[in-house]
Amino acid sequence: MDNSSFDFTRGNSIVSSSAAQTSSDVVTRKKSKPIKCMNIFKLTLAALPTIVFGVFTIVFTLQQDAAARATRDQDQRQADETNRRILFKEYMDDMRDLLLDENFEQNINKSLLQIRVQTLTVLRNLDPTRKRDVFLFLYESRLIRHDITPKIDIRGADFSGMKLVQSSTQVCDLSFLYLPGVIAENVIFDGCTLTYAVFESASMVGSNFLLNDLALANFQNANLNKAKFRDNQMYEAKFTSADLRQSFIGDGVYQNVDFTNVDLYQSVIGNSLLNPPPFLGLKPVILLNTRLPDGTFSIIDSRNLLMHGRAEPECHLNVTPHWNGVITNEPLNIIHFQTNVPVNMSKVEDDCFFKIDKDMTYYQLLSVQNFSRLIDLKLAMFNLFGWFGLKNPNDKDSLTMTVHFSQNKNSFGFGSSVFIHMKNLTSSFHQHSLVNMIPPTTRFIAVSLGCNTVGSNDQFCLFDQITLSVFRKIS
Ligand SMILES: *[C@@H]1O[C@H](CO)[C@@H](O)[C@H](O)[C@H]1NC(C)=O
Ligand SMILES: *[C@@H]1O[C@H](CO)[C@@H](O)[C@H](O)[C@H]1NC(C)=O
Ligand SMILES: *[C@@H]1O[C@H](CO)[C@@H](O)[C@H](O)[C@H]1NC(C)=O
Ligand SMILES: *[C@@H]1O[C@H](CO)[C@@H](O)[C@H](O)[C@H]1NC(C)=O
Repeated sequence: MDNSSFDFTRGNSIVSSSAAQTSSDVVTRKKSKPIKCMNIFKLTLAALPTIVFGVFTIVFTLQQDAAARATRDQDQRQADETNRRILFKEYMDDMRDLLLDENFEQNINKSLLQIRVQTLTVLRNLDPTRKRDVFLFLYESRLIRHDITPKIDIRGADFSGMKLVQSSTQVCDLSFLYLPGVIAENVIFDGCTLTYAVFESASMVGSNFLLNDLALANFQNANLNKAKFRDNQMYEAKFTSADLRQSFIGDGVYQNVDFTNVDLYQSVIGNSLLNPPPFLGLKPVILLNTRLPDGTFSIIDSRNLLMHGRAEPECHLNVTPHWNGVITNEPLNIIHFQTNVPVNMSKVEDDCFFKIDKDMTYYQLLSVQNFSRLIDLKLAMFNLFGWFGLKNPNDKDSLTMTVHFSQNKNSFGFGSSVFIHMKNLTSSFHQHSLVNMIPPTTRFIAVSLGCNTVGSNDQFCLFDQITLSVFRKIS
């Protein structure tokens, strides 16, 4: 009991050692008294000054802390600023040495890589004003222009927050600017010449484009969420597959601007974009597979996505390089109608056909990137359709038509595919079609056709007039 009392005061001594000394004395003096509850009462009384003093100490310490923190923050800011100044200077010195090095041309690839690495690193630590200085340095050194080689690989560089403004003392001529894949959030371009500029796949959330010349600029695949465009010249600018959700696209000159597969959901669009004044003779904006501000879609591109679905145009070559053997990678053969091919071709109105030999499979790869909005919202369907025939049919023979889905060009998970076995083929051409949803995240489709025959060796499959088109799911 006594020991624990002592421990209690010692605990308090952390707050204030002088107060703890007092109460510890008290505890020691009362040690011999027989009434234990009295002891506890006295102890509480005795501890009171300690607690009050302790609270005072804490409040005082907190106030001191706040003041110290403010000073520290100030010091930190100062240190950061000094640090940024040093980093910037070192970067500029290194760049000067690199560019003026007499072996620059000779070691061009190494030098460009070094510029890339140092640029990406320094930009991560700079403020928007110095980011702009680095940007102007790179542009003026002709390292980020696509009309001049060599240029550096600038993907991943962070130019966020920088402002480029035309003024009476500064021209802002940035034609042929090459900034693919950069991070440039909340950047401002005001009054600049950005003709032929490339911002492809750049992350430009919240960026602001005011009074620029953006003729033939390329914003393909860029993230332009919450971006603002106002009074720009947009002659033939390309926004294919850009994300323009919650953006503002005000007045400007919109001649033939490409909004294929653009997401305009919840954005505000000025009148001159959708209804260009007819007297100017402007070509309208291209709205194809476009998600409009209200969430509906513009017209969907329903063209055949397969290359050379018909055998006729390449008949004279006897092969087509657009279909390849899955194992052999050989081009697909084309045959002329011959009397010894007992296939009734009256329905096909053609005299050339694609020919798949027994047990062979041929495929064609196609991109559906221009349908990504529709696909990711689970609204995209495809229809694969064609005419199919078989020489010397047998009731166990079949032709297999398969559609594989993939996120990138080089990998096809065979788990993600749909197919049909076309059985019961006769010596007459038959029409077959495969209709299904395109699963979300699909960007590439491979169509394959396999000829599975079990009869005589004198067998092969034929197909012609094959199409694959995408359409919007009717909900
Ligand atoms: C630099 O790389 C390119 C392609 O990566 C190559 O064609 C060229 O020869 C290289 N130049 C030098 C000087 O190594
Ligand atoms: C070919 O098919 C058409 C229509 O299906 C039919 O009228 C014609 O008689 C057939 N010809 C032969 C040779 O079987
Ligand atoms: C996607 O659309 C753009 C613009 O219309 C076009 O230039 C491009 O070739 C299309 N890409 C594919 C893979 O069809
Ligand atoms: C196969 O064809 C025969 C006659 O041509 C027909 O009676 C039969 O229903 C067909 N079977 C299938 C599964 O289409």
